[in-house]
Amino acid sequence: MCGIVGYVGNRPATEILLTGIKRLEYRGYDSAGIAVVDGGGIHLLKDRGKVRDLVEKVGAEWPAELREEVRNGIAHTRWATHGPPNAVNAHPHTDQSGRLAMVHNGIIENYVDIKRQLSAKGHVFKSETDSEALIHLIGEYYQGDLLHAVCAALKRVEGTFGIAVMAADQPGTIIAARRGSPILIGVGDDETLVASDAAAIVSHTRQVIYLDDNDVAVVTADGLEICDIDTVPVSREIASLDWDTSAAEKGGFEHFMLKEIFEQPDALTNCIRGRLDTDLGTAILAGLALPPRELADIGRLIMVACGTSMNAGMVGEYYFEDLADLQADVEQAAEFRYRNPIVSPRDMVLAISQSGETADTLAAVREATERGALIAGLCNVVGSTIARETGRGIYLHAGPEIGVASTKAFTCQVAVLLMMALKIGRCRRLSRHRGRQICEDIMAIPDAVRNVLAANDRIAKVAQVCAKADNMFFIGRGYMYPVALEGALKLKEISYVHAEGYHAAELKHGPIALLQEDVPVVALALDLPGREKMLGNIQECRARKAPVIAVVTEDDQELSEHADQVIRIPRTCAMTAPIPAAVALQLLAYHTARIRGCEIDQPRNLAKSVTVE
Ligand code: AGP
Repeated sequence: MCGIVGYVGNRPATEILLTGIKRLEYRGYDSAGIAVVDGGGIHLLKDRGKVRDLVEKVGAEWPAELREEVRNGIAHTRWATHGPPNAVNAHPHTDQSGRLAMVHNGIIENYVDIKRQLSAKGHVFKSETDSEALIHLIGEYYQGDLLHAVCAALKRVEGTFGIAVMAADQPGTIIAARRGSPILIGVGDDETLVASDAAAIVSHTRQVIYLDDNDVAVVTADGLEICDIDTVPVSREIASLDWDTSAAEKGGFEHFMLKEIFEQPDALTNCIRGRLDTDLGTAILAGLALPPRELADIGRLIMVACGTSMNAGMVGEYYFEDLADLQADVEQAAEFRYRNPIVSPRDMVLAISQSGETADTLAAVREATERGALIAGLCNVVGSTIARETGRGIYLHAGPEIGVASTKAFTCQVAVLLMMALKIGRCRRLSRHRGRQICEDIMAIPDAVRNVLAANDRIAKVAQVCAKADNMFFIGRGYMYPVALEGALKLKEISYVHAEGYHAAELKHGPIALLQEDVPVVALALDLPGREKMLGNIQECRARKAPVIAVVTEDDQELSEHADQVIRIPRTCAMTAPIPAAVALQLLAYHTARIRGCEIDQPRNLAKSVTVE
């Protein structure tokens, strides 16, 4: 959940490291630190706060030679797990001798034992972190061979890690390693970078090597050598990042979230491109890599996911049932492996994850693999752990998503799930004629989204109502039920307005008790099956004086008259409607947060990818 950058090369490291962690700040932003290493030893600076605070501190406290001459170093931006965000708990951490420095992502689960054992040998720990235990352990083994010391220590560690370690007496070397927390190495000309995420290094090189679990890399300016934890050499392929460097910039938008909301017509076009066979009325999803007979034979589809990805999976449930007659269920990834999931070899477990690194989703994939299910992944980040471990899967092609609040990933996940249901449906009972219609509907999605984006100013006005509220409800039926959940999640995570998503019919079973004049209800009341019932639910809300913001089909005059505020979205087929409706709610959440003066791209307590359980 934190961000790691390391640099060894022939350019001044400080700026590269600080710019690198700035690009990773969306992964964690409560404290930050940097260590550069030269012949004089390790120079360390860290503090509570954002990367910009660290940049100021470096400018104010470091002499020019540290800022402009030292060519090696590591840096970190943190999302606190063990110990509050402060200077002492911030990374890098050093060992007992002060001659080794390390940045760490993940959790060392047996850190209490390690600390106890080392304390008995005289080690003194400064921080409350689990990470400090690991670097002290490495220091305990260090006798001039950093690789061996790191491997020896890692063998005693339980938990997850992505680390970069440096020693004062080997300034040109970084030892990087991973288990359960991503690390990639960027290979440049006379320089090599280490990072937890491609965003940190894409402006320097596109040639990257992703470390696998238990890989340990010796990184120098000339390149790298990789071995396993027993120091047996292993080889890993170089991959090419297909990122556009502008993806990591705001491109004139005030926030990444707004940029990514507005990118959706293009993201969806990229996601759909080349994946529809309009003649056969089916989808071409090469990554699924199963013959039609096997697709037709799937017994049950179990989707495992968290947060927004889980909401996308809930839309998917309807698609697989409606188009493929396939029983489909979304399971909360965090619960999946702690229950006794009934999975047969004919069942497919589909992991849905934007980042491809979410710890709970990854754990569910591993559980399902052990239980012998067919596994597939639906990820956005190419080369991510879930994408690689599932082997069979579909990329979203939505482009990098930097905003902590997931937007374009959600709509592309929904689009891919629809194409997947179409493909499986066509292998089962769906007619070619119906398949062709659905292809047409899918191709119309980007324009429908453009249409919603054109209503941005209107939605910003409606957001004035939400910005004054402390509590809100989002309600919907059928395809709009998961969209209601997603709308509520989006609002609460960035604007801190407490919001709950409910099936419109469930409101009467309890939550209606909370309705009153200062509790607005967003009613997803499109002209779809269930519209009349939604109208009834709207009346129930208004009878309790709750202001109603209705999301309606653009030409539905009648329904508009029953709401206090109206957001119109274009008429689409029922199956594609969740996408434009979700975009409208993304804008509503965005503007609510903006009016309330919230830090939209870095909401409090959150991090972009949740790599700890
Ligand atoms: C969405 O806005 C969230 N920040 C969060 O719920 C996210 O969707 C969840 O953590 C899952 O992430 P993933 O898709 O990367 O697995």
